[in-house]
Amino acid sequence: MTRHLITSAIPYINGIKHLGNLVGSQLPADVFARFQRGRGHEVLFLCATDEHGTPAELAAAKAGKPVAEYCAEMHEVQADIARRFGLSFDHFGRSSSPQNHRLTQHFAGRLYDAGLIREVDEKQVYSHADARFLPDRYIEGTCPNCGYDRARGDQCENCTKQLDPTDLIEPRSAISGSTDLEVRATKHLYLRQSALRDDLDKWIDSKSDWPILTTSIAKKWLHDGDGLQDRGITRDLDWGIPVKKGTEDWPGMEGKVFYVWFDAPIEYIACAGEWAEATGGDWERWWRTDKGAADVRYTQFMGKDNVPFHTLSFPATILGSGEPWKMVDHLKSFNFLNYDGGQFSTSQGRGVFMDQALDILPADYWRWWLLSHAPESGDSEFTWENFQQSVNKDLADVLGNFVSRITKFCRAKFGETVPGAGTFGAAETALVETLRTRIRAYEQHMEAMELRKSAAELRAIWVAGNEYLQSAAPWSTFKTDPDSAAAQVRLGLNLVRLYAVLSMPFIPHAAADMLAAMRTDDTAWPDDPGAALNALPAGHAFTVPDVLFAKITDDQREEWQSRFSGLRT
Ligand code: 2FM
Ligand code: ZN
Repeated sequence: MTRHLITSAIPYINGIKHLGNLVGSQLPADVFARFQRGRGHEVLFLCATDEHGTPAELAAAKAGKPVAEYCAEMHEVQADIARRFGLSFDHFGRSSSPQNHRLTQHFAGRLYDAGLIREVDEKQVYSHADARFLPDRYIEGTCPNCGYDRARGDQCENCTKQLDPTDLIEPRSAISGSTDLEVRATKHLYLRQSALRDDLDKWIDSKSDWPILTTSIAKKWLHDGDGLQDRGITRDLDWGIPVKKGTEDWPGMEGKVFYVWFDAPIEYIACAGEWAEATGGDWERWWRTDKGAADVRYTQFMGKDNVPFHTLSFPATILGSGEPWKMVDHLKSFNFLNYDGGQFSTSQGRGVFMDQALDILPADYWRWWLLSHAPESGDSEFTWENFQQSVNKDLADVLGNFVSRITKFCRAKFGETVPGAGTFGAAETALVETLRTRIRAYEQHMEAMELRKSAAELRAIWVAGNEYLQSAAPWSTFKTDPDSAAAQVRLGLNLVRLYAVLSMPFIPHAAADMLAAMRTDDTAWPDDPGAALNALPAGHAFTVPDVLFAKITDDQREEWQSRFSGLRT
């Protein structure tokens, strides 16, 4: 038995996530966690809300709420949606937790003691009207290069020139529009990532099984230009983790907080502490290699934009601490999902958001489409036509139809118990062999976290059952040889249970309904498919389930397409 530590990139607190966010980290992480649990391994699956930073403060201000209250409410909203989507976190934590405060301050203290933090005097734009320092991207003005009047302090989106806020003509606050700005001196802490470059390089080189997409991003940051840059890890904000060296105050850093990207990944560890507090579990067994975590296998899931932080900044924090923390073994990253001819956009409200998705259809419909079209080798695109087609064909015609046909036929001819007569012959043996090959392939793709390939293999497993049923045709056999028909039906009912077990990672709600209909809680993984197809014995009672998957009609598709063509307000 292996112990799997699994984390999903932690979603920002401000606002409900769209389907593109979901498929890029939380959903695939859930599939992997469910698969490993299904195979009998011990799993700790963690996620949390990423609660600090300017966007959280601004979203709270917009909602007219104190930021702590806003975050507490949004955390509940996100937790509820995650639960309804079937995301099976062992704990859904908060980066603002006391555990993360302590641990982030602890890491900063260790890094300082190791000589890996330097203090830098800087100049930054302060807005009197907003009573705060403004991050570069919250300063707007006219671009000195092209004259565009809404250029941001970090870059002009019209001519793409990289800018400094002081380059802007007539700068103003993007928050209030105020031009009452002043350049002020302020001190910040920098993590000396450059000093850790060789250690990081060696560590990346030891990951020979990582995809090129991941290692090439890391290598680029390590070696391009002047190489890995030191990174500012503090900000002049109110909301965040106060800058301290362990439990001690940090002279000159009063009133400042850690940068959100410094504390967010540390929450992966702190979240295990929150889980331990909630459940009585032992978090160090998962995170400290000196306390039992050396044989844990740690897998992270994230979108490609998060890769540099997870291959360089967070490992720099951990390596720099000099402490025996568990480091990531496998990092699965995703490209982007686009929406109907454009991009999903949180800021513009474009696309389908998680709450809206659940308002129109159950989670499994979305899970199946998203996972079977995951943006693995390149970006992929959601279209309503493709969604309708996948749901109707794969879920309704193939899986749903199989379950409905076999259970209804049995009820009509043999009643609602597994019939005992007859024996299995050549057709059944052939099916078992097909399943054996396909289940082994499914396991391999799942181990490798190849979602599209796994989904295709799972679908092929469903198809194999349909084809068997079609050619065995118990409804015809029954007329001349009811005993053989009974054996065929017995196999079919057992396939329903087998499909539930195999499908659980992808469509957990339907899988649970299938198990409930089969009146079994035997979820043993089919290491031996032949034995698995005898799990429900003769005489075992079952019920005919309600329709598992309803087809999406053309009218529905058109209605949703137009409903979600605009922007969410
Ligand atoms: O991109 C995002 O949504 C970030 N909130 C991910 C943070 S992942 C980690 F570092 F915690
Ligand atoms: Zn410009």
